[in-house]
This record gives sequence, C-alpha cells and structure tokens, in this order.
Amino acid sequence: MNQIGAPFTVHQSIAHESAARHVSGNAIYIDDTKQPEGLLHGWVITSTRAHARLVSVDLSAVAAAPGVACVITMHDIPGENDAAPILSGEPLLADGVVTYAGEAIAVVAAASLAQARDAAGLAKIIYEDLPAILSIDAAIAAESYVLAPMVMQRGDVDAAMAAAPMRLKGEAHAGGQDHFYLETQIAQAEPGEDGAMHVLSSTQHPTEVQHIVARLLGRPLAAITVEVRRMGGGFGGKESHASLIAGMAALCANKTKRPVKLRLVRDADMVITGKRHDVQTRFEVGYDEDGRILAMEMEIALRCGNVADLSGPVLTRALCHADNAYWLPAVRVRGLPAKTNTVSNTAFRGFGGPQGVISIEAVITHVAAALGKTRDEIRRVNYYAPGRDVTPYGQHIGADNLPRVLDELEALIAGRREAVAAFNAGSSIVKKGFAVMPVKFGISFNLPTLNQAGALVHVYTDGSVHLNHGGTEMGQGLYVKIAQVVAEGFSIGLEHVHVSATRTDKVPNTSATAASSGTDINGMAALAAVNVIKGRMAEVAALRLEAPVEDVVFNRNRIYAGNRSMSFPELAHACWAERVSLSSTGFYKTPEIHFDQASMTGNPFYYFSHGAAAVEAAIDTLTGEARILSAHIVQDCGSSLNPAVDIGQVEGAFVQGLGWVMMEELVWDAQGALKTHAPSTYKIPTARDVPPVFVTKLLENAPNAKPTIFRSKAVGEPPFMLAIGCFLAVQEAVASAAGWDAALRLRAPCTPEAVLRALRK
Ligand code: MTE
Ligand code: HPA
Ligand code: MOS
Repeated sequence: MNQIGAPFTVHQSIAHESAARHVSGNAIYIDDTKQPEGLLHGWVITSTRAHARLVSVDLSAVAAAPGVACVITMHDIPGENDAAPILSGEPLLADGVVTYAGEAIAVVAAASLAQARDAAGLAKIIYEDLPAILSIDAAIAAESYVLAPMVMQRGDVDAAMAAAPMRLKGEAHAGGQDHFYLETQIAQAEPGEDGAMHVLSSTQHPTEVQHIVARLLGRPLAAITVEVRRMGGGFGGKESHASLIAGMAALCANKTKRPVKLRLVRDADMVITGKRHDVQTRFEVGYDEDGRILAMEMEIALRCGNVADLSGPVLTRALCHADNAYWLPAVRVRGLPAKTNTVSNTAFRGFGGPQGVISIEAVITHVAAALGKTRDEIRRVNYYAPGRDVTPYGQHIGADNLPRVLDELEALIAGRREAVAAFNAGSSIVKKGFAVMPVKFGISFNLPTLNQAGALVHVYTDGSVHLNHGGTEMGQGLYVKIAQVVAEGFSIGLEHVHVSATRTDKVPNTSATAASSGTDINGMAALAAVNVIKGRMAEVAALRLEAPVEDVVFNRNRIYAGNRSMSFPELAHACWAERVSLSSTGFYKTPEIHFDQASMTGNPFYYFSHGAAAVEAAIDTLTGEARILSAHIVQDCGSSLNPAVDIGQVEGAFVQGLGWVMMEELVWDAQGALKTHAPSTYKIPTARDVPPVFVTKLLENAPNAKPTIFRSKAVGEPPFMLAIGCFLAVQEAVASAAGWDAALRLRAPCTPEAVLRALRK
C-alpha cells in the first residue's frame, strides 16, 4: 500500500472548511442552534466587591420574578462546588466569601433572556468588605501567591554577575488582554434519561467541560456528553473558563429538568471571565563591551487573580521563554504567581510566552541603550548558536531555522532602516521607528501528559469518509487541515471527507485544543486511524485485483495493483462484502518530551518554531498617537499543510499581538472593578490598525526536522510574539524624539497616554 506521485491534498492552500458558511452567515454557532422545547435562558448574579464576606444573599425577589424557573447558589450543587482545571478548591459559585468583583454568586434561569436579566437585578446581597489585594506589587508585599514561586536556574549566576565587566538593572511591564472572541462564552445543557446531560459548549476543551459538569452534578463522566462544532474564537479564553459557563448551565438544567442556555453578554463576559496575565519583570544583567550577556537574574511576576486556574503552566511557559532566542550562560529566573482579588487570569495565545519574551527583549533594549548600540547588534552576539545551544531548562535547541528566517527577512526589508533614519532627520513632530523582532517558541503542552490525541474515522460503502477527532475548531483551520491529512492518507479528494463536531462520546479523554499543537497531535491520531483502515482495505484490494498486497497503491481516488485498478468507492463496497471493518480509532502521543517541574529542567518541547518580523512605526509627539506603517514577517511553518490558512494565522496573531502591545488597556478602579468592559472603552485593533504594508512569507523548503504530520510546524501562537516588534518600533520612535531615557520609560500597551508619559516625564 504505497502512495505515489505528488501530494494530493496536503501542502495546498485550501479554504477553511467553513469559509463560505462564515461569510454567508450559514455557519451555525450554539446561539444559532434550533431552540429545544422549553428552553430557559440563564443570567449570572455576580459580586460587586473585590473581596468580601457574604453576610446575606436574599434571592426571594429573583425567584418570584416573572418567567423565572430557578435561581441557584452553591447550595444547589449536588456534587462538588469546584471548577478547578488542574488543582482543586476553586468554587464555581461563591462559598461564603467573594474574591473578585464579577465572581458568580448565583445563576437565574428564566423563560427569556430579558426576564433572567431583570430578575437578576432583584438580588439583595449584603457584603462585609475585607481587605483586597489588587496589584502585583501588593501581592508581592503580602507574599500572596496562588502557588509557590518557581525558580529556573543554570550556572553560578552570582559569580558570573560579579565577574561581568558591566551590569545594569531594569524593569519590563505589559498589561493584560481580553480575548474578545466574537462569540462570547456560551453553553446549552439539555437533561436526558437517567441523569444524563448533553452539553453544547463553546469550548476548546470538551473533556474538561465533561469533567467539571460531572463533578458539579455528582455524576459519572459517562453520563455527560459534551459537543462543540465550532467556536467564534477561543484564543485560550475557552480553554478553562468555558467549563464555568457550561457548569452553570448544567446545574440549572439539572434543577429544572429543562434545557438551559447560558450566553454571557459582552459586558458580563469581560467582567466574569479571565484574561491574559499582566506582567511585571525586574532584572539585572551582567554583560561585556560587545553586549554579550554573561549573567541574568530575572523576576517575572504575573497577576494570576483569585485562583490558580492555569497560572502554574502559564508561569512555567513564561520562564521557559525568558531566553527567547538568546544563549544565557548563567541565569536565574524567578516566577511569582501573584494572587490578587481580580478575575482569574487564564490561557491566552502564547500562554505566558509573550510575557517571558517581552521581558528579555527589555534586557536586550537596556543593554543596547547603555552601550549606544542597536538592538540588532546586541542580539547578534547573543543568539543561540552551535556550542551555545542549550536553554536555561536544559533542552538542546535542535534544528535552528532562525538564522535563515532572519536572512530572508533582511532581504525583504532592504533599504527600510535607512529610509526611516532619513525621514527622522527631516521631521521633528512625527518620528518613526524601525525594529526587528525574532521569536523562538516551544511547541508542545508544557505538561507532558497533555500531549496526546485521539481520532475516529469511518469509511462508508460509497467511499465517503466520516472524520472525528479530539481537536476543536475555533477559526484556526484545524478541521480543514485534519481533513486534508485524512484525504491525503487515503489519497482521495477532500470533498469525500466529512468533518463532524467534536464530541466526548466519540473520542474520549482528550486534551484542550491549545499550545498550538492541535494539528500536530490530532493530525497524527487521524492518520493512525486512516492507516489501520487502509491496511485492511489493501488486503481486500489485493484479493480483488489479484496481486500481492505490497503492490497495492492508493492514488488519487483509485487503487492500483499490477495493471488492474478499482475506484475507492468500489473498494469500500468490496470491504463491506468481504466483512472487513471500515472503521478505526487512532491515537498519538508526542514522543521524546519530559519536564521536571520541581527542578524546572527537561525537554518540554518537541521542537521550536521560529519567526521574525520587521516593523515600522510612526508617533506624533504632540498627541502621542502611534501607528504601524509596515510589517514584514518571515515565519517557519515547516512544510506548511495549508499555506493560506497558515498565513491567515500569522497575520491574525500579529494583529492580535499589536492590540496587546499598542492599544488594549484594561483599567480597574480602586475598588477592583473592571471599568473597561465593553468595546466603548476597551479598544481592540480594527481594519484601520492593520499595517498598510503587511507582507508575510512562510519559510520555504523547511520541512520540520522532527517527523511531525507531513513535516509541518505549529503556527497558532508563535507569530503573536512577533508583534512585540510593534512596541519596539514605537520605542525606537520615542528614542529618536526624546532619547533612550524616555524610550526606556515606555510601557506596553503604548497608548497615546503611555507615549506622552514617556516623552514628557
Ligand atoms: N485562530 C483563530 N481564528 N481563533 C482562535 O481562537 N486560537 C489560537 C490559535 N489561533 C485561535 C486561533 C490559540 S490560543 C491556539 S493555542 C491555537 O490557535 C489552537 O489551535 P491549533 O492548536 O489547532 O493551532
Ligand atoms: N499551552 C496551553 N495550555 C496548556 C499548556 C500550554 O503550554 N500547558 C498546560 N496547559
Ligand atoms: Mo492557546 S492560549 O494554548 O489556547
């Protein structure tokens, strides 16, 4: 069963499987599904205080309001009031105290959304305020952490620091970020027979929704089925927090024995659910005259919010990216998971990586400024290179495509640096800046156990193929990529492969679709299933075509052996006639990876993804406004499975990252209430903010050195960090207007206010 000829469906730019439905409005999201008989609508009653004891919770008026079917508190939870994704003790509904403004206290379900909302307003809650910790600094001062602080260390840092010819100290700061998926969090739970519950959930992690619903209801996992056809974006925000919404919907459905839909309106979504961790980094670096880093001591503090949630792995990933692309011979990085009375921050594209990378880029910037050199000069002497190619956590870099990426980028931007310098020489009010941003990003979940996936493939007697796998579709194009893999495996046209909604009763015990590894692991699992079926089909083909099985070839919808052939549907039908199974599961676990959390050493990543961007920014020194004028990107996607989808991922990630470093600003008041909970006050990038010159190239002839699925590389998160180049370019512009002392004061997001503060301080 060989395959001959050029690839049929992989390595081609094929439209997203829902592209036509997306643009025509025919893609069905949970809120669009046909409403079941008797559907109730939920609304969450939330805390208005950051930290308080609940003196009394009077919901009698809520329960008596028109249309209300139930209002539940923690006392209505038949199982455990715990929604923790990794640890335990993270209540779904407030248990005597509230620990952030926005925490769920009760959930009301009514015949209409308006009735539920109006009823929720009738809750009478009396609080007794407790002291609240709102900032990272306050948490550090109080040693308030959601987990024990972490330390990653290599070499004798103190000795290397003392011996370094030069030393400096600095800080880096970056704000949080709301996911702002277009589809807000939503779930619809429908009770079935014998305590069964069917949950439609907009989740990246159907298995975890299943676990948490089962835990809350006190039911076995097998009684709970979770299904997701697609999300209107997840970006990490639906990795752990979707289960909170689904849990509340399931509790109301369980109580009323009616289907319940819980859809958060935008303001509620922004207040109730977690975001990217804001970061505060302090460092000391020892270096030489060339800017070579000899010792680095760094403390990265993330604001985790009220519970641990995913903050352990997020902080671990931050520490694992505090090297970015640079060799650090002696290094100690401490990670502080600050516990605050604010919403629990969670996964967000990059998962701590961006916070680590922006921190070391600040180190590079400070060293460059101190030596009067360019960042690129400092980087050049610090990049990983043969003999200097082991990360602080002890992993060898392996195949390093960054030098090639940087060379190709330089070719794309020839003359642009000089043009910016020439512009600045002749302009005083408007100043431009130009910056390169290299990225190395580790691929795999940093919890080795999570790197497993499953798939289920059926071939029907007409040759059509049903495909199911554990990965979820959030817009990133996973479904089309896995369909391409399956079509390629059978060498049949993509139109014969029918993708289906992800469900816990089809493929069990899955991991979140996250860590950019959806295609890597689900693609391998699907191919494993295909290969089982194909092996059986080849036996039947050998019989029917009267040839040895070794001679059977699947090629472009036909099966050949000797000088005979049959179509794929004919063979499928023949298998049925011969009573041969045409269905199989497939399974995959990523090889080679391991990580010891206690010593923070190991090989947590199967491979690294590399990319680089060159960004040109302009600032108006009177208003502080900054714009990105051009961005050139080279990203390594290995042998891309689908270049069109991958370029879309690179562009989307870059613009989302641009939002993080340039404009998205979360503001809490002194009482810990989020003031920026709607697009009126929270600005995400729009079409106008996309760089007018925006060039993205995938590195060519770069098959993954590791035997990944068709030698492709993950793409979802790595290019997010390229957008740190936007911040660096604005910083360059500030430096050319007011010098590096001013530029080093700049913090992300570099809103107009932030730029003015840096210029004027
Ligand atoms: N792209 C779109 N359109 N929507 C999303 O929600 N999430 C990102 C990225 N790209 C996201 C996206 C995040 S955070 C991750 S981890 C990956 O997609 C997950 O999918 P993958 O593993 O299949 O790449
Ligand atoms: N990324 C996303 N989710 C995760 C990870 C990761 O690296 N580790 C554990 N959960
Ligand atoms: Mo992505 S933050 O790993 O969901």
